[in-house]
Amino acid sequence: MAGSGRRPLVAGNWKMNGTRASLATVEGIRDGLSPALLEKIDVLICPPATLISSCVAATYGSPIAIGGQNLHARPSGAFTGSISAEMLADLGAKYVIVGHSERRAYHHETDDGVHAKALGARRAGLCGIICVGETMEEREQGRALSIVRAQLAIGIPKGATAQDTVIAYEPVWAIGSGRTPTPAEIAEVHASLREMLDKLVGEEAAKIRILYGGSVKPGNARELMAVENVDGALVGGASLVAEDFLGICNAYA
Ligand code: 13P
Repeated sequence: MAGSGRRPLVAGNWKMNGTRASLATVEGIRDGLSPALLEKIDVLICPPATLISSCVAATYGSPIAIGGQNLHARPSGAFTGSISAEMLADLGAKYVIVGHSERRAYHHETDDGVHAKALGARRAGLCGIICVGETMEEREQGRALSIVRAQLAIGIPKGATAQDTVIAYEPVWAIGSGRTPTPAEIAEVHASLREMLDKLVGEEAAKIRILYGGSVKPGNARELMAVENVDGALVGGASLVAEDFLGICNAYA
């Protein structure tokens, strides 16, 4: 949001989508971002781990950052199939998503596990994007704020800074559903997260970006990104199509 001093971040989370043919999408995004826009915002793409290396190569020399979608908390060891923060950093990743609701739901990730992973990200010099969000049932019970505040309080590493931490508010019910909270509902949650951040990390809280995610599309991005304390977007489906992702980035044009 203009005037906050925080540089917006528009991030794409490709989830389990994409093969080498999808490099054309990264190239389309790279070529479609105007230098004027890149003066104002940070752009990040989090492809599946199999494509990180080639996406880093495809965006070499451009300000687009590449990130991971998940990590193991430990730097190395006998954890078959897992990838550490050090390995992501070694490929040229700059960010990693931590505690996405799909990881929490399908891989039983807990807030303590999220905390350990966020520490792992910091250890390797990556910026961790810590995801929080309530289910529809929790919202209907009036528990949205208490849920996301607790997720944030447990997940975030002590002494987190704007360099090593981004927060993403992603209501579980808005992900992939085409439904979004109203701007007022988003403003309420983001203000509450900002206030919680202030309790947790003091004055650094004002510098830490809080993204909104969940059915962000070119058609609603301008309205959602204008909400107070919304410092960018974490985009799923619409990040798979260069034109759509560029449309969202252009909300800041
Ligand atoms: P959609 O944009 O597809 O709703 O996904 C949001 C998301 O989960 C990003 O991490």
